[in-house]
Amino acid sequence: MKKEFRFGVSLPQELIEEFDKLIKKKGYTNRSKALADLIREELIKKEWEEEEESVGIITLLYNHHKRQLMDKIVDLQHNFCKIILTDQHIHLDHNNCLEIVAVRGKPKEIKKLADTLKAIKGVKNVGLSISSTGKNLP
Ligand code: NI
Repeated sequence: MKKEFRFGVSLPQELIEEFDKLIKKKGYTNRSKALADLIREELIKKEWEEEEESVGIITLLYNHHKRQLMDKIVDLQHNFCKIILTDQHIHLDHNNCLEIVAVRGKPKEIKKLADTLKAIKGVKNVGLSISSTGKNLP
């Protein structure tokens, strides 16, 4: 078990009041966990900026009735098969499909896949949520 480090921080009173309101709303029971999560988010951003191997989730919303759209999406996913971990297809209704694509690789490659999916005609929305392999994230 890693040692915990305690430290004091001076902040404007209004800032910490707003922070406390925010974390209470989010369900945190103490500032330490909320602060640790904020720090981890910054470290993950740094991992992405420095092109370290990363993990992400791409969401993809499209109408499967559009001509050749599914073929294009599948072809593209085969081109990026080295970074795709898994792909979940959800039939939302008669027309709409949602795909959740878990990816692991260099941020540049992950962004390239998301951007290329976004540019396909008929794709309604592409989201990219970034995370970390966790290897270098305390
Ligand atoms: Ni579907």
